[in-house]
Amino acid sequence: MKLQCNSQSRIIPLKQLGDERGLLTVLEENITIPFEIKRVYYIYGTEEGVSRGMHAHYKTRQVLIAVSGSCTILLDDLSRKTEVILDDPNKALLLEPNDWHEMYNFSPDCVLLVLASHFYDSEDYIRDYDSFVSIYREGLGL
Ligand code: TYD
Repeated sequence: MKLQCNSQSRIIPLKQLGDERGLLTVLEENITIPFEIKRVYYIYGTEEGVSRGMHAHYKTRQVLIAVSGSCTILLDDLSRKTEVILDDPNKALLLEPNDWHEMYNFSPDCVLLVLASHFYDSEDYIRDYDSFVSIYREGLGL
């Protein structure tokens, strides 16, 4: 199966399978998900008004799916800032390491599933925006 990923939007449409019993969506590494999946976590029970994320990475690629409810993701790759609303369990968002990202507008029922290409490593985080700019600006030739 060919990977469907629009590099502009980073949205990966997922195929919804289903029958009279209900719905089912499949995620497979290196097929629907464009990397080997080393780690899975999910964010839920987020209080109203909370913003999470606010970092980029050195190595980690991630795919985000709101399997329930909705939230908004702000992506900033230094060439542009994009807001993506995740509100569909068949819509996945690919985050590259150089995507500064913030997550907010979580609905009370939001369960945000995250698939990651690397194990958790606090050293892989860039939490300071100015550092993010200087680390990635040169690579983009800005
Ligand atoms: P953090 O990455 O700060 O959350 P977010 O960026 O989504 O707001 O993670 C919150 C806490 O959970 C922090 O103490 C680190 C820990 N954590 C792990 O131990 N392993 C993980 O895979 C993740 C994502 C977080």
